[in-house]
Amino acid sequence: MMVEETKKEDHFLQLKDITTTFGSIVALNNVNFSVKKGEVVCLIGPSGCGKSTLLRTANWLTPPDKGSVSLDGVLVGSESNKNMSLNEMKVLNGIRAKMGMVFQQFNVWPHLDALENVVRAQLVVAKRSRKEAEEKATKMLFDVGLGEKIHDWPDNLSGGQKQRLGIARALAMDPVLMLLDEPTSALDPELVSEVLNVLKRLANEGMTMIIVTHELGFASQVADRVAFMEDGKIIEEGPPNVILKSPKTQRLRLFLDKLNITSFTPS
Ligand SMILES: Nc1ncnc2c1ncn2[C@@H]1O[C@H](COP(=O)(O)OP(=O)(O)OP(=O)(O)O)[C@@H](O)[C@H]1O
Ligand SMILES: [Mg+2]
Repeated sequence: MMVEETKKEDHFLQLKDITTTFGSIVALNNVNFSVKKGEVVCLIGPSGCGKSTLLRTANWLTPPDKGSVSLDGVLVGSESNKNMSLNEMKVLNGIRAKMGMVFQQFNVWPHLDALENVVRAQLVVAKRSRKEAEEKATKMLFDVGLGEKIHDWPDNLSGGQKQRLGIARALAMDPVLMLLDEPTSALDPELVSEVLNVLKRLANEGMTMIIVTHELGFASQVADRVAFMEDGKIIEEGPPNVILKSPKTQRLRLFLDKLNITSFTPS
C-alpha cells in the first residue's frame, strides 16, 4: 500500500498516531514521528519513557494498539492488520528485514563463530549462497574492524567487539534503516568509542539511523536531530546544537542537568 508520494522524502520512516499500552501503562501516547532518508536521529529520555518501545514499533516487533508505520511509502503495519494472514506476515517480514536492529545487550549467537554469526541470516532470510554470504560477511567484519577476529567465538570477544559483530550482522542484510537501542550502554567506557566510531562512519556514509543513546557528545557530532521523550511522548526535538544547548522545556533542562553535562559543550 502506498502512502502520499509527495511526502515520501520527509517520511522515509513514518510512525503515525502510535499508542501502545501494556496493561495500565501507556508506553507510547499518540506519537507521530518521521525520519528522512539519510537522517540520523538520537532519541533520549528517562528510563521507562518509551524509547525502546518506539524502536520496536518501527519494525513492528511490538505492534501498537493504535496507529500505523510505513517505510519508504510501504505500509509496515497498522492497527487493522494485527490478525495477519501468513502471506501478509511474509510481506511484513520482508520489510522488517530492511531495518537492522542492534540492542543494548549483545545479540550475537554464542554457539557460532564471528563469521557464521554474520553468515546465517543471509542464508536463511536473504537466501544468499554460502559463498556470497561468506564474502559479504568477511567484508562487513573488516569494515567494523573485526578482520582479525573472523573465526573467534563471541565468548572470546570484548563487549565492544561483540557489539560491532552485532552491527556487522545487521549491515550484512543491506538494511535501509538501522535502529540501535543503547548500543554502548553495556560497555566499559574505554570500549564505547570503538562502537561509536563505527556508527559515525555509517552516518557519514548516509545510513538512516535512529539511535537511543545518552552519549551526548556523540549525538552532537552525529545526529541531525535529537528527540527527547517523556511519558510516552516526544516533547521536544531539534538539531543537537539547539536542543542540547538551549532546551525549551524545563523537563529537558532537568534531564540534561541530571546527565551531568555541565562541562559538555556541543560543537
Ligand atoms: N513487554 C512489556 N510488558 C509490560 N510493560 C512493558 C513492556 N515493554 C515496556 N513496558 C513498559 O512500557 C514503558 C516504556 O518502556 P520502554 O522499554 O519503551 O522504556 P525505555 O525508555 O526504553 O526505558 P529504558 O531507558 O529503561 O530502556 C515502561 O513503563 C515499561 O515498563
Ligand atoms: Mg530501553
